[in-house]
Amino acid sequence: MSKDNGQSKVIGLAVDRVDGRLKVSGMAKYAAEYQLENLAYAVLVQSEISKGKIKNIDSSKAEKLEGVLLVLTYKNAPKIPTKASSDFDDSLHLLQNNLIHHDRQNIGVVVAETLEQAKYAASLLEIEYEKAPVDVDMDNSLGKARTPRSEEDELQNLKEDSAYKRGDFSKAFESAELKLTQTYITPAEIHSMLEPHATTAQWQDNKLTVWESTQAIFNTRNKLAKAFGLPPEQVRVITKFLGGGFGSKLSTWSGTVLCAIAAKTCKRPVQLALSRQNTYSNTGARPRTVQALKLGAAKSGRLTALEHVSISENCRFADFVEDGSEISTHFYSCPNLKASSKTVELDIGKPTWMRAPGDCPGSFALESAIDELAYLASIDPLQIRLLNYAEKNEKDNLPWSSNYLKLCYQKGSEQFGWHKRSLAPGSMKAGDKLLGWGVASACHPAHRMKASAKIELKADGTAVISCGTQDIGTGTYTICSQIAAETLALPLSRIVFNLGDTTMPEAPLSGGSMTAATAGSTVLELCKQAVEKLARIASEDKDSPLYKEQTEDIQAVSEGLYSRKNPEQGESFVSLLTRNGGAALKLETSLAPDKNKLDKYSNYSFGAHFAEVQIDPELGKISVTRFVSAIAAGRIINPKTAANQVRGGVIYGIGMALTEEILRDSKTGRVLNADLAEYHLPVHADIPKIEVLFCGEADPVVNELGVKGIGEISNIGVAAAIANAVYHASGKRIRQLPITLDKLL
Ligand code: MOS
Repeated sequence: MSKDNGQSKVIGLAVDRVDGRLKVSGMAKYAAEYQLENLAYAVLVQSEISKGKIKNIDSSKAEKLEGVLLVLTYKNAPKIPTKASSDFDDSLHLLQNNLIHHDRQNIGVVVAETLEQAKYAASLLEIEYEKAPVDVDMDNSLGKARTPRSEEDELQNLKEDSAYKRGDFSKAFESAELKLTQTYITPAEIHSMLEPHATTAQWQDNKLTVWESTQAIFNTRNKLAKAFGLPPEQVRVITKFLGGGFGSKLSTWSGTVLCAIAAKTCKRPVQLALSRQNTYSNTGARPRTVQALKLGAAKSGRLTALEHVSISENCRFADFVEDGSEISTHFYSCPNLKASSKTVELDIGKPTWMRAPGDCPGSFALESAIDELAYLASIDPLQIRLLNYAEKNEKDNLPWSSNYLKLCYQKGSEQFGWHKRSLAPGSMKAGDKLLGWGVASACHPAHRMKASAKIELKADGTAVISCGTQDIGTGTYTICSQIAAETLALPLSRIVFNLGDTTMPEAPLSGGSMTAATAGSTVLELCKQAVEKLARIASEDKDSPLYKEQTEDIQAVSEGLYSRKNPEQGESFVSLLTRNGGAALKLETSLAPDKNKLDKYSNYSFGAHFAEVQIDPELGKISVTRFVSAIAAGRIINPKTAANQVRGGVIYGIGMALTEEILRDSKTGRVLNADLAEYHLPVHADIPKIEVLFCGEADPVVNELGVKGIGEISNIGVAAAIANAVYHASGKRIRQLPITLDKLL
């Protein structure tokens, strides 16, 4: 660190994760690793039918077992306050009645001294069912698709309208020189985070503390408070580490509340860690979509008409829509456009957000269709994207806050070697394998919400910052520490950044790719305010070398404050604070988005993915052999954690393209592959080197840091890039994911 070049740079450096050592050494504690005194263990009981009623549960054998403390079922579960019932309807399955809405619905909890006792006791329950006919096949009901009744709660302000039109689609499509009408299908998927949902709950007096694996500690606190009729201050939620969430941990699911009910009933702390199998039914899934696209274009490939109707599967007891058509409303320039997203009700568990909800399945349809149009127009797939580039957001008629999509196309294609591609399908080979190159684009809204944080800058020259956000594995601890270190001119080692506790200043959920923008901007503001406050103290302190200096002329440099005009004039924070009584400087602040500024622009991140596949022509085996992602997401705080997120997003997309799919038996409604042996995630051997390029610069509009978020943009378009590469290799256009051998041969 040097005084003469002003700020030392920490933002933008690929520093190691500040919590990396804790994680790799096993010291980082996850929700199910809190060994409280007198802890009891709970397991879930899940239904073995998919629709109907429980006629009876005989728990007498289980209750007689040694170590068993509680068998909680609809027969003895405490009633949830009616005031909370709108939040806690059947979608949460809190054992309020004997109805069964879907396969593996939570219908009981068994608590025992040990996990083994609890598991064994659960196996002894004698459950009598009355089955009803099930329907889990959306293809039979597409005609009954309807627009959703209501929007979801937490992310309400992140949703776009579900029906939209501009110009005259029908007329333009009718007279178009090139026409494409196709249907694209994406599978139901499960988040498959490394750490399944887990809760450790403890009651003391009438106060509840919950160690929870959640992306939203404050929302979880509020829901629990409602369920127990408590003021929110009497509930504390702690999430220090999270082994992934991908949207499944944005909501509070029944296991969390049931664990707290069990702890209250047993009068001792209870832990409920879901098994992998438990996660396939009561903690959301990405719903299957059937998406109909109509594209009309001039011979040149220039779009003149676009219609996108996305239908997603939903449960019958709550509303969730996968807004697949939204991305089509603004991604390409097109004067005549219609888009809507609808749902079909089935006897399935409640779907939920999964990484890039809406845009991820939507982009598979849109980016496959654009690729098909390129072949209709006989032009290069990258060329058709450039040809239809939207100079502004034509949906809301606003300029982009910044848009480096063309740079993504350029840098990504250069890195990939796209110019060496020949257009005709099946025209490239790698040895005896078919070779295919595909491209797809991506965009994602740059969200940001209000957050609060506090700082204690101690007289020993260390800073402790607390913000009630979450680190869902993305690197929030690290990037917030970097922002603080740079703003305070302290080495990273002198920053302690705390998060994940509702006793801290409030921050919103970690979702919608907005945590860097939200928590990061607040930390930046907080540290700036701390520096200003210290500068005032120094300028008013007769004994400070900065006495009577203008505060604007004082800056934080080299662990202290120094004059901008005379870099040698100043002192360390230690000297300033020690001389002023030795107490820490304490400050708390909140920062909200500047709506007036944001509303003048359309704020999105952009990206381009380039995929290479090799296909065995006899076996149909597809390997993704190269992948380049060029992402423009504003300023990158840490290229190492950021690239890591992009690689994760690409891997998620490879799974979606080639292997992942929740399969249900149409007769029984049961999930057929509810474990990692049968639900196929890509493994290391399936993943090539993924090259990540960050394009563009800090965005001048979106927030004080100029960051747009990368968690979701990296997942959008990936499956289409692969499907497009498969077409290029084989001449087979697969419009239904995953692209398995049977579809290719
Ligand atoms: Mo994401 S689906 O907003 O965790």
